[in-house]
Amino acid sequence: MAIRPILTAPNPILKQVSKPVEAVTDDLRALMDDMLETMYDAPGIGLAAIQVGEPLQILVLDVAHDEDEPKPQYFVNPEIIWASEDLSTYEEGCLSVPEFAAEVDRPAAIRLRYLDYDGKEQEMHADGLLATCIQHEMDHLKGVLFIDHLSNVKRNMIVRKLIKASKQAAE
Ligand code: NI
Repeated sequence: MAIRPILTAPNPILKQVSKPVEAVTDDLRALMDDMLETMYDAPGIGLAAIQVGEPLQILVLDVAHDEDEPKPQYFVNPEIIWASEDLSTYEEGCLSVPEFAAEVDRPAAIRLRYLDYDGKEQEMHADGLLATCIQHEMDHLKGVLFIDHLSNVKRNMIVRKLIKASKQAAE
């Protein structure tokens, strides 16, 4: 396993649309292992493959976020097959938008179809933080960041500050 660098906005790679995975191979499991280690190291509760520069439909999550008892979850080619009309609001952050958080409304519950770590087809119901986190990570697969759900004014302000921070870091 290896920790990989996490891309941050406004890196154009984050705008790419990720491709479905044809088969869950050992190479992809190695990528999922790297993603999980990178996410725990950051630390974060979710990571999409594009955030480490791989445009594939793969997510890793651990919303339990308990160092003593990790509960990793892996989602390959996730597809939302039902979403509630009820919305819930969470203050979201993102490893690709460091230091910023903002409230985003999303369906409160979803039903999801996906392939697991072993490539087996699965279905699950998710609500609460898990539902929000899955939808946030699935946005990454479409090249969408949580700041894209905010007003232009707010998003531009955040992006300007990110550019300034990365210039300062490079100096
Ligand atoms: Ni994110």
